[in-house]
Amino acid sequence: MLEPTIAQKEPYEVELEAGKTYHWCACGLSKKQPFCDGSHKGTGFVPKAFTAPTSGTAWLCGCKHTKDAPYCDGTHETL
Ligand code: FES
Ligand code: FES
Repeated sequence: MLEPTIAQKEPYEVELEAGKTYHWCACGLSKKQPFCDGSHKGTGFVPKAFTAPTSGTAWLCGCKHTKDAPYCDGTHETL
């Protein structure tokens, strides 16, 4: 199984807009964390597209090991 790169061991606080689609970086290599910038090319990872259900602050996983992508589920505490 592929291991993602840990971008940071804590979530990224971001402001999302309801109904808008975002691409969360799953590989950990993006320079535009927590979003995909295309750096995953050739790694076997693909970004996770998601639509924000509500507008406001969200905590997106920075460690890339969450079981609830794109959201932080606390897994970073165990890394
Ligand atoms: Fe990480 Fe695209 S750059 S998934
Ligand atoms: Fe990845 Fe919290 S930052 S689970």
